[in-house]
Amino acid sequence: MIFRQLFDQVSGTYSYLLASRNGGEALIIDPVLEKIDRYLQLVRELDLKLVKAVDTHLHADHITGLGALRDETHCITVMGEQTKADVVSMRLGDGDKLTIEGLALDAIYTPGHTDDSYSFVMADRVFTGDTLLIRGTGRTDFQNGDPRAQYESIFGRLLKLPEATLVYPAHDYKGDTVSTIGEEKAFNPRLQVKSIEEYVELMNNLKLSNPKMIDIAVPANMKVGLHQEEIARRGWAVTPQQALGLIGKPKITLIDLREKSERQRHGTIPGSLHVPYSSLQENIATGAMLHELAKSTGKRLLFYCAFGERSAMAVQAAQDARLSSACHLQGGLAAWKAAGGPIEQ
Ligand SMILES: [Fe+2]
Repeated sequence: MIFRQLFDQVSGTYSYLLASRNGGEALIIDPVLEKIDRYLQLVRELDLKLVKAVDTHLHADHITGLGALRDETHCITVMGEQTKADVVSMRLGDGDKLTIEGLALDAIYTPGHTDDSYSFVMADRVFTGDTLLIRGTGRTDFQNGDPRAQYESIFGRLLKLPEATLVYPAHDYKGDTVSTIGEEKAFNPRLQVKSIEEYVELMNNLKLSNPKMIDIAVPANMKVGLHQEEIARRGWAVTPQQALGLIGKPKITLIDLREKSERQRHGTIPGSLHVPYSSLQENIATGAMLHELAKSTGKRLLFYCAFGERSAMAVQAAQDARLSSACHLQGGLAAWKAAGGPIEQ
């Protein structure tokens, strides 16, 4: 496995680059905007293909690199389903898997620091975001933080992991890089409490000043969405209402770009083909399945995904591959459901 812990000195943020092999797919956790050139250089040097950029929660101390990495690499942006970020391509819920080629991380919902905080568990390690830090815990006094929820997340979820599990947090300000669950259980001063009340009392009396960046970072991090309006201006978008009139017509092929787990969890639009976004390029190239389907039958390709982000990128890619009839469902399955469109489970 390829594993890199990358540090942003300004915000004290750790970002993590993961891949199963050289030449394979990679994902990055908690990228910082100012560092994306460094990440992209490393991705090139290790011959990786960045396919997912993930934030453990909406950060208040730095601007996320999610949007910029998406623009540079066309990767999928991922956060938890509780997030208030406007549009991320993929939203995970508790128990969902975060997967790339050769790697699968379990998403566990660990609210408390914020109400959209997630941790990601692999066999021997856990990425704890700001829920559990090394000898500390993330503050709970803004962004819908809740010390009770955090106690449950830490004591009820994270500390139940095997003691040898490596702990990789989103921040450290003292220079520590990694810990273990057993070590934190024994030595984290915040965790030496006898009850939830004691923990709440402790967290409510930290008297911390707000992070310097909070007024800039939070609003910026809520706007990571692609400009789907631009795709619409080019005439490549179909509204859910328009799409309702097209379903079942012979001249249209619906293509679902989501992953299998999302299809199982949220259902599909009846009659759609499944081409996961990660395999799009190989399917729209000249001679490939979607390319030939569009060219030989004259059918219009109508891409859709969860929120219209992946499908907007897919339309651009298909248009670049000279599939001029390609379009996408604006707002994705979420908008389709809101418009009362039929769903197949
Ligand atoms: Fe945070």
